[in-house]
Amino acid sequence: MHDVSKALRADGATPELVALVDIILGAATQIAQCVRQGALAGVLGSTDDENIQGETQKKLDVIANQLLKNALLQCTDVCALASEEEDTPVVGNPEGKYLVAFDPLDGSSNIDINGQVGTIFTIFPALRDIAFDSEQQFHQPGTQQLCAGYVLYGGSTLLVVSVGGATRCFTLDAASGNFVLTQASLDIPADTQEFAINLSNQRFWRPAFKQYVDDLIAGDTGPRKKNYNMRWNAAMVGDVHRVLMRGGIFSYPSDSRNPRQPAKLRLLYEANPMAFLIEGAGGKAWTEAQRILTLQPTALHQRVAVILGSANEVDTCLAYLK
Ligand code: F6P
Repeated sequence: MHDVSKALRADGATPELVALVDIILGAATQIAQCVRQGALAGVLGSTDDENIQGETQKKLDVIANQLLKNALLQCTDVCALASEEEDTPVVGNPEGKYLVAFDPLDGSSNIDINGQVGTIFTIFPALRDIAFDSEQQFHQPGTQQLCAGYVLYGGSTLLVVSVGGATRCFTLDAASGNFVLTQASLDIPADTQEFAINLSNQRFWRPAFKQYVDDLIAGDTGPRKKNYNMRWNAAMVGDVHRVLMRGGIFSYPSDSRNPRQPAKLRLLYEANPMAFLIEGAGGKAWTEAQRILTLQPTALHQRVAVILGSANEVDTCLAYLK
């Protein structure tokens, strides 16, 4: 048995769930090859299309989405899948036990600059009391996730995954094609001096959030009495990975740029899986008012404010917002 299967089985996953994760990893390994080849494979640049979010699709968004979709639809355990790149759920086997949701290539603005990108995924149980082809299948709170993870295509290709116990990290061994366990349990320090927030949006923030960030920037001359450093990857997957590795706070708060879209990140395939991983590593993941995992979804591509990372820093931020 490979490391991922062994670890997930030890964490209580069923053989069917482990097999499903394996299918996702098969597609992710192909995506990793495309990312590595870049211009040599002709996969850089944009298509002429927009996705449901109104974002121009990159060629690699489309390729990654297709690879995952093709692989998952061959699995009879998949009842339906949802993707950032699909307007509505794509139906699989009506009898399938699982729902899979994914952002096939998070951070796709980084593709053409050879920056970090990644695949984020989550698995929920299919609900027997709701029509298998209904979008309502996906309106489950994040606490119901059976598995969440991401594959980060960076200097190394990494898998970070949890089935509800520890958050574990594996590194893709290009020679064997296997993901090898490299960190058995990630543990986020409760305190931090690092933040990841897109400061260019500050004129659109709520005053209380702006005050929180002003106080971070004031460093040891302000009320926080310590200096903070800032990092911003423009790919949630890269920023959350850094937080998982060494702590920090990551936030994409609500803002007033577009009244019809007060938040940016998607609940189903961005906020929920990341919150699951962060909590599994001892961190906290909140909207501005509640734990992300307890939010009752109302729409497939619903967006939410996100504040996650080192527990004490998230608490401090939330105290400003009260
Ligand atoms: O999916 C949205 C996303 O690309 C995230 O991965 C990332 O955190 C954020 O948007 C980047 O936003 P901005 O364009 O404001 O830097």
